[in-house]
Amino acid sequence: MSVIGAANGFSVAHELVYTLKVRDAMQKDLVTVTPGTTLREVQGLLREHRISGTPVLENDLLVGIVSLEDIINALDHGHIEESVGRWMTREVVTIQENMPLRRAVEFFQRYQYGRLPVVDAEGRLCGILTQADIVVRLMLELNRMAEEAARRETELLAQAGAATTSGPAVTMEFSVNAGDFDNAGIASARIKSALQERGVDLKVARRAAIATYEAETNIIIHSIGGSVKAQIDADRITIEAADWGPGIEDVERALRPGFSTASELVRAMGFGAGMGLPNIQKCADRFRIESTPGTGTRLHVEIDFDSTTSDGGE
Ligand SMILES: Nc1ncnc2c1ncn2[C@@H]1O[C@H](COP(=O)(O)OP(=O)(O)O)[C@@H](O)[C@H]1O
Ligand SMILES: [Mg+2]
Repeated sequence: MSVIGAANGFSVAHELVYTLKVRDAMQKDLVTVTPGTTLREVQGLLREHRISGTPVLENDLLVGIVSLEDIINALDHGHIEESVGRWMTREVVTIQENMPLRRAVEFFQRYQYGRLPVVDAEGRLCGILTQADIVVRLMLELNRMAEEAARRETELLAQAGAATTSGPAVTMEFSVNAGDFDNAGIASARIKSALQERGVDLKVARRAAIATYEAETNIIIHSIGGSVKAQIDADRITIEAADWGPGIEDVERALRPGFSTASELVRAMGFGAGMGLPNIQKCADRFRIESTPGTGTRLHVEIDFDSTTSDGGE
């Protein structure tokens, strides 16, 4: 929460915690117990739902909260078979659903609680809020804003006139070196910007970026080196990724979702899920792969600007 709580300047996240309400971030599916529930039963519930605490309700009124810490204490002191009513925390700090998220951030900073029960105007429990819920909500909102900004940028570039899909064909070429993880994504990012500058639909640009990224990383991970070329025509982009070997033994098997020959080390770096080639196929309107062991692999992808293929790899 330090990022959001930081008082150094007014970031977008900072502004968002003022405009978003507690109810926008809280979880509404509640796991609750009553004072009569045993701590043993609570232990089971917490495990089953992978949560670390739950509100205690009596006749629909919030009367306490019981947490994993209470369970651990109960196990330590031998009262795990006793009822929640005896051991729950009765003084519960709650927050109203119509409060700005900023208020919840403050609460989390002031008190060391893991969760805040959320109540409506009548004081009835209507949700629960953790710091993780706030982070997730902010990420969603920031993502939405970033998408909106990208869309507007494309629109502006298209309006600026210079960038039209009817201009002369553009070609781009990038050499890709084996093992060069640092530069993975460069061809992909450049191609995406070139498409956006031409006013190409953001979804199409994104598919080209995903396909290129997967092709680039395959050259980096699996080959001894190669290149990625792109040609942007009036109605489509053509991406060619070629390398000098070692080639693919069994192409059909390589295309199967989940198939990967990536090493443990490469997997530890977050690559090698075996979804690269399937993702490229999903992004492409036309797709070809030719591979000769000893000579190399050549990948040919075409994406139409007016294509209706769904977003690939997302
Ligand atoms: N350019 C390439 N050269 C050699 N082998 C490749 C190449 N691209 C893909 N492969 C083979 O195809 C498999 C599947 O590729 P992919 O679907 O991208 O999954 P991943 O890269 O996660 O392993 C790879 O594990 C590798 O064995
Ligand atoms: Mg791959």
